[in-house]
Amino acid sequence: MSSSQTYYLSEYKRPDFTVHSTQLLFKLGLVTTVVIGELQIERLNDSEKILWLDGEELTLHTVYVDGNLIPDASLISRPGKLGIPCDQSRALVKIEVAISPESNSSLSGLYVSGKSLCTQCEAQGFRRIMYSLDRPDVFSTYDVALIYDISQFPVVVAAGHCQERKSLSHGYAYARFVDLTPKPTYLFALIAGYFHTLESSLTTCDDQLVQLFIHLPVHYSLSQVDFAMDALKKSMLWDEQVFNCVYDLDAYHIAGFPDFNFGAMENKGLNIFNTSTLLADPKITTDSGYLRVLSVVGHEYFHNWTGNRVGCENWFQLSLKEGLTTYREMRFACDIYGPTARLDYIQSLVEGQFREDAGPTAHPVIPDSYQKIENFYTNTIYTKGSEILRMLEDIIGREFIDEGIQRYLKRYDGQAVSMDAFLATMNEMTSYDLSDFFKWYKQIGTPLVRIQSDYRIHDQSLILTITQTASSIDRRARYQPLIMPIKARLWSEDGTVIIPENNQACEVADDGTWVTVVRAPKTELVLHGVNEKPLLSAFIG
Ligand code: SER
Ligand code: ZN
Repeated sequence: MSSSQTYYLSEYKRPDFTVHSTQLLFKLGLVTTVVIGELQIERLNDSEKILWLDGEELTLHTVYVDGNLIPDASLISRPGKLGIPCDQSRALVKIEVAISPESNSSLSGLYVSGKSLCTQCEAQGFRRIMYSLDRPDVFSTYDVALIYDISQFPVVVAAGHCQERKSLSHGYAYARFVDLTPKPTYLFALIAGYFHTLESSLTTCDDQLVQLFIHLPVHYSLSQVDFAMDALKKSMLWDEQVFNCVYDLDAYHIAGFPDFNFGAMENKGLNIFNTSTLLADPKITTDSGYLRVLSVVGHEYFHNWTGNRVGCENWFQLSLKEGLTTYREMRFACDIYGPTARLDYIQSLVEGQFREDAGPTAHPVIPDSYQKIENFYTNTIYTKGSEILRMLEDIIGREFIDEGIQRYLKRYDGQAVSMDAFLATMNEMTSYDLSDFFKWYKQIGTPLVRIQSDYRIHDQSLILTITQTASSIDRRARYQPLIMPIKARLWSEDGTVIIPENNQACEVADDGTWVTVVRAPKTELVLHGVNEKPLLSAFIG
């Protein structure tokens, strides 16, 4: 059962227990699926004597702790929670539940699409599959076995390395998938049903062969995923080249479903896509449709590092993975599709995020509270989160932001962290004081910047007076000035670039662009060597 409780960032607490390994056995069925989970748990807070697990819409059969059956009378049932007495530092908790995929109409957990089974566990769907510590700061390995009727589920895949497949009697089969890279529950995935598959492979820069699969319900044509397969390969190579991020499993699956709540989902090793962001066909797909498939395939792939290997401490940090991954996706789209791809991102900022930020659902990139985290998959978390990083790129330079991201991934690999950890790593990349930069994540609303220019012909100087405030009038009194890079260039009337002299506030590049970083409500910038009255082109990019 879901509750309308409010969760506050200020009340975030590390978990009392953690799970080191998760073994799951599924006996798959559309009407009823039985799931047996074995969680190897460790207590982190010795004063806690009850292991509280999350669970929704589960029919509980049995609970064992270290092989001992726990009688029903000893279990504590609360809305959305199961309490299991556990006064020991380590234990093996074995739980059997039954779930009904067919009657699950929430598109969360394990559900039916057509005649196939599909999962969606972000943000809190895993608790509809098994009692668990369903929170992003608990990382566990996964060993997933599935027993299924081959005539009903000819194709069955879970994330990870396929360790075993065998036939059983009476038309049943068994498959087992192991993922030893620890991950949070929300990245769990499985599919089962009628699919046909486009297969390919790629060898990574460290000589590992990766099998690539795109599975589609049989009534879709496989030729419609040729473009997505090509986009996947481009993403893998691009991430190796630009961010030194190499894929880490021997298989990468993508499955398309028409019934899917998000555009796509980055489950480790088994992405699930809404078919609308996966299929492309020259007869019916527009240029922007192709760009969307390219960028979503890239986005989900890039999550393998930004999100999956380095995760979020809590859901308030959602933009840590989504803003950063959207920033990487945008860079990829501009490199592969061409610089005009940038226009689509600007459009979603201006037409989507600016409106959201001016309206009743405006919220900070790092919210202080939420009731349902599912409502926070917004333009602000994704697009504003990404554009803040693009500004950071303008401040510290592309070379340093790329190096900073790599340092962050190396330092926190296998951990769940916060935006503070990310920004602190970025601050190491520059002598610039970024402490105030955090305000971008906390202040609601779009800033309004005015630039007044005053050209003085007698000493060939240009004085720019730059002011910043909130674009919304009722936010002005509370507005806190932000650190903001302004990338600009000067043009003459006849269309040639005017290159001013270098000065203390900004260094002028060979192409005449310069970046000035403002942080006060009012900043004055004087440029010398401006030999005619210029036109200012500001906020380039
Ligand atoms: N985590 C998913 C994604 O952004 C949800 O849409 O890719
Ligand atoms: Zn994402």
